[in-house]
Amino acid sequence: MASVLIDSIRKNYGTASVLRGVSLSIADGEFLTLLGPSGCGKSTLLRILAGLEAQDAGSLSIGGRAVEGLRPKLRDVAMVFQSYALYPHMTVASNMALPLRMRRLSVFQRLPLLGHLLPATARIAAEIDVEVTRTAKSLGIGHLLARKPGQLSGGQRQRVAVGRAMVRHPAVFLMDEPLSNLDAKLRVQMRAEIKELHQRLGVTFLYVTHDQAEAMTLSDRVAVMLDGELLQVAPPQDIYADPDDRRVAEFIGSPKINMLEGVVRERGLIDVAGATITIEADAPAGAHLTLGIRPEAFHLADHGGQGVLTGSVRMIEHMGSDLFVHLDLAGIDQPLIARLLAERAPHIAPGQTLHVGVRPDRVLLFARDGRRLHRQAESGRASVTPIREGA
Ligand SMILES: Nc1ncnc2c1ncn2[C@@H]1O[C@H](COP(=O)(O)OP(=O)(O)OP(=O)(O)O)[C@@H](O)[C@H]1O
Ligand SMILES: [Mg+2]
Repeated sequence: MASVLIDSIRKNYGTASVLRGVSLSIADGEFLTLLGPSGCGKSTLLRILAGLEAQDAGSLSIGGRAVEGLRPKLRDVAMVFQSYALYPHMTVASNMALPLRMRRLSVFQRLPLLGHLLPATARIAAEIDVEVTRTAKSLGIGHLLARKPGQLSGGQRQRVAVGRAMVRHPAVFLMDEPLSNLDAKLRVQMRAEIKELHQRLGVTFLYVTHDQAEAMTLSDRVAVMLDGELLQVAPPQDIYADPDDRRVAEFIGSPKINMLEGVVRERGLIDVAGATITIEADAPAGAHLTLGIRPEAFHLADHGGQGVLTGSVRMIEHMGSDLFVHLDLAGIDQPLIARLLAERAPHIAPGQTLHVGVRPDRVLLFARDGRRLHRQAESGRASVTPIREGA
């Protein structure tokens, strides 16, 4: 088992700066997910950690040991690749045995015929067989050992790739979008299996995905990455409810958080989309702020008033227990999306005027530069004073 320390890692490809000083500390046994859009540098960071690529600056340690210059197989990490990277001409058993053969058998012992004449080869090969069979059974692929990857389903291939990583008993698992080639249903099933695997093995997992549902359900902590930088590292719930940065708030959540431009009218009142919300922002009258409101933060209101936005229903998405109602607000291009309980809002129709209320404590405030403005109760970095009672 091992902790991982990533300190100020930089990486350029030509003139492109792909990692811009990434620092991250992962605890022993933690499940940490790197979450970010395509091209933000997730795989690059993982490959550097695995030793498949060298950083331009910064340092790494695994289990308290600096790993600079250590070859991949000496780093005590195992990587599961997005593409699985299985050898098509080899059986499942041979694919899974490969990392152990590379580590435990010498070049001569690995020779097809001669190798078997050398002392100890047979014993080590038998031990490897036992390990491979045991691991395959634990993953439910014991009956597939003689098949080739081309004769497997996507989910079975994925298990073989995980099995190949497991046989080495690494201190750290690096998983690069291991589920992205699977269909939606299988992805949910395999997600549960990966979580269970982590609990069973108790080792450190660094998991890469651009799927926020995966990140939210699997992780102890999520590191949100954008353009080669980490924006926030926190438990899933905090990333969602308490984002540090406008970009984090916009990346997490589906449907996306509503962002509305507001102006402080006077102390305690913000004008937004033709309505007024009572939030005691510690900003001067006339200051421009962005209000971030998640779709589920709205509730149906009978009429307009303070803290109530009014718009015209553009479209309704029926999601079973919920409705996503798209509302056109006066003077705003993007429709507002409110998530309402279907049973509370049975008769909504396009074209109708609708009032939706929002509690001030469900509003996230962002400064013009995208920084979150915290309320006093939340942190010492107060720029916004507590909400008035009875708002
Ligand atoms: N060997 C390379 N040479 C040049 N540019 C590269 C190389 N590898 C990656 N890049 C670039 O670095 C950036 C980050 O790539 P990386 O593969 O780390 O992204 P990612 O976050 O894993 O994306 P995805 O979610 O699509 O897998 C991309 O713009 C990519 O084009
Ligand atoms: Mg990638």
